Amino acid sequence: MSKTAMAGRVSSTESTVKDALFDVTELHKGFAAPAGMLNILQGLSFSLQEGEFLAVVGESGSGKSTMLQILGTLERPDSGEIRLDGEPIQALSSSRQAQLRNQKIGFVYQAHHLIPELTALENVALPLLVQGCSEKEGQARAAALLARLGLAERQLHVPSKLSGGEAQRVAVARALVAKPRLLLADEPTGNLDEKTALEVFGILKQLCREEQAAVVMVTHSMALAKRCDRILYLHNGRLVERC
Ligand SMILES: Nc1ncnc2c1ncn2[C@@H]1O[C@H](COP(=O)(O)OP(=O)(O)O)[C@@H](O)[C@H]1O
Ligand SMILES: [Mg+2]
Repeated sequence: MSKTAMAGRVSSTESTVKDALFDVTELHKGFAAPAGMLNILQGLSFSLQEGEFLAVVGESGSGKSTMLQILGTLERPDSGEIRLDGEPIQALSSSRQAQLRNQKIGFVYQAHHLIPELTALENVALPLLVQGCSEKEGQARAAALLARLGLAERQLHVPSKLSGGEAQRVAVARALVAKPRLLLADEPTGNLDEKTALEVFGILKQLCREEQAAVVMVTHSMALAKRCDRILYLHNGRLVERC
């Protein structure tokens, strides 16, 4: 294992790799481009404990979104291993990966990506229905979570009738309603003003802490990164403590 990979593995709790909820080893990913191969991820390694909140920062184009897509099994690495709860998830079939995403991984993006035709309540209940919950139970759980996020009066709104901050809170609720083990967030507050960003981040952090979900949050905001358990920099295709 490289020195950088080892450094990336030292968690804030000093636990061993064996206990890690999420363990990423030597990920490589390149894209063919007219001028030659773009080697975006070049041996990226880190591990996370249950409930650990990691911020990842890096320059635009450094590969942060590519990294999250791969960590979330939405794209395959060229090589390397990703273990969630000890299971090497990059090696699973696409259908098993889809099942795993529904059961164990939540996603939040910069844009809310809510389904425009569905109400806030229906959007949040959707992951539960996919898991086989009845509509009644799914909607009851979704309604309880929306109420906690101060959106009880907005649950029958479609996304176009929500403010940016409200829509993003609904997106956070949808990502966490099924209690994932891992939350992947790609600049989740990037479209919001500073005050609203802080509110949405606060909600995200509190819900993840309660559920002991591990989080990888890509952000441009050092103010938010500093409120996380740990900050890593994506630099030259690797995650490092400082760039
Ligand atoms: N599917 C793709 N094909 C070719 N190049 C890509 C593809 N996806 C991303 N890239 C390139 O990889 C680099 C990293 O992109 P990205 O992960 O979106 O960076 P970031 O999120 O850090 O801004 C960029 O130079 C981008 O052009
Ligand atoms: Mg990006």
